[in-house]
Formats: sequence, C-alpha cells, structure tokens
Amino acid sequence: MLPLLKKQILEQGDMPAHIAIIMDGNGRWAKSRNLPRVAGHGEGINSVREIVRVCGEIGISYLTLYTFSSENWRRPRKEVSAIMKLLLGTIKKEIKNLHKNNVKLSSIGNLEDLPKDSCEGILEGIEMTQNNTGLNLILALSYGGRQELLMAIRRIADKIQSGEMKIDQVTEEKLTHELYTANVPDPDLLIRTGGEHRLSNFLLWQSAYTELYLSDIFWPDFREKALIDSIQDYQARQRRFGQTGEQITQ
Ligand code: IPE
Ligand code: IPE
Ligand code: MG
Repeated sequence: MLPLLKKQILEQGDMPAHIAIIMDGNGRWAKSRNLPRVAGHGEGINSVREIVRVCGEIGISYLTLYTFSSENWRRPRKEVSAIMKLLLGTIKKEIKNLHKNNVKLSSIGNLEDLPKDSCEGILEGIEMTQNNTGLNLILALSYGGRQELLMAIRRIADKIQSGEMKIDQVTEEKLTHELYTANVPDPDLLIRTGGEHRLSNFLLWQSAYTELYLSDIFWPDFREKALIDSIQDYQARQRRFGQTGEQITQ
C-alpha cells in the first residue's frame, strides 16, 4: 500500500522542497505507557530514522528537525544530559548509513552550547557528509528563532557601525543572509506533532508563509503513513502569498 501512496503524492501535486518538523510529544508518549520520559526520546529516534529515510525516497531537498530548543536547557538536568547522550550515540550509530544514503548533515542553532563530545560528534558528521548531494538533513540544536534574529541584527548593526553597510541597505534579503538558514529556502511545510498549536520559537522569520500541519500524534508514533498524510494535506492547499485565489489560478 505504501509504495503506491508514495507514488501517488509524487504524481498528484507539488512536493514541498523543505519540510520542517517540531518533533513534540516524546514525554507524553512515554507517560502514557508508564515509562520514563527518556524512553520517549529513545523511541523518537526510530521516528527520525524512518522520516529521514522516507524524505530521501520521495526526493525532499531539505528536512529541518527541531531537536533541542534554546529553552529546552531549562529542563531537569538529568533529562538534558540523557538527551545529549542519546544525540551523540545516535549520530555515531547512524552517520555511516546516512552517508551511504547520500544525506548531507548540517545544523542550525548554537552548537557551542552542547557538551563538548556531542558538539564534536555532530561536527564530525557534518564534515563526513559535506559533499553529499541527497537530502539536506538540518538538525536544530540549541536553536531559538528569537536568538537567531538577535544574532542577525547584531551582525548587521556591526556592519553598519564599521561603515561596511548603510541603513537603507538593510533589506529582507540581507537579514535572511545573516541567519543560520542563509542558504536554505524557507520551509514549505511545517509539521508539529504532539497536539500543541504553537511555534515554540522555531523558524520565526523563515515560516512567515509556511503551511502549518498540526498533528495530535506523539512524535514516537509519527511514521511514514503520517508523513504522507501531511504531504497530501499540503498538496490540497492553495498558497496565496497575499494574492487572491483567482490570481494564483490564472
Ligand atoms: C519533544 O518531546 C522532545 C524535546 C523537546 C527534546 P517532549 O519531551 O517535549 O515531549 P512532551 O511535550 O513532554 O510530551
Ligand atoms: C519544542 O517542543 C522543541 C522541540 C521539539 C525540540 P517543547 O516541548 O520544548 O515546546 P513547549 O515547551 O511545549 O512549547
Ligand atoms: Mg514538548
């Protein structure tokens, strides 16, 4: 059934070039099974593996995964360190397979906030896969949209102060250029799993015209079928970017 569905979405409409996902609901998935929260993070990795595989198979160019937010540092220390260990362990275990599948790994966010070994593990993965030409897998790590905008504004202010740039040269393009996502197109489809209806500081600038898909499914249960459903939903929409529907269909 699924290969057919995959074929169908490829044939029936525009595919999103960039999918961004807020992978939420690991803790509640675990709680509903009387398991510790970290078991939910562990199971969430199986969803990551499957979603990355499917995105590669259907030719998605960019997949950005909200993995750890700037605000997630506020969680209990034990949970934070368990997540950081899982992250490093997963990268070490999966990187060869990702490389084999032509996946190019990168990250957005303040990587330096991560424990040294996790940070180095990510950097090694990024280096190993830097020449790959398949799916661009972008991990948002210690990422916050406001922090990113602040960084960009400071960089621009610095250029103005040094005389490198004039105030009237500050454009949307220039600001975009200073973001972590400088060379990445804005997301077409933003999925949030886990039932919440908020952005939680994810890609605030970049998702100005992104199509939102909110799913009640907890991330560890969000697999191939759920992703295909979200793309089918996306394909049924009309993106108007401020124009009228008639203008778009003309
Ligand atoms: C998302 O799941 C994973 C991270 C934020 C790291 P949560 O851990 O937020 O799961 P819930 O929202 O508590 O269920
Ligand atoms: C967003 O989920 C961050 C990630 C999925 C990495 P949260 O669980 O941190 O979001 P809030 O706190 O419920 O808004
Ligand atoms: Mg959550």
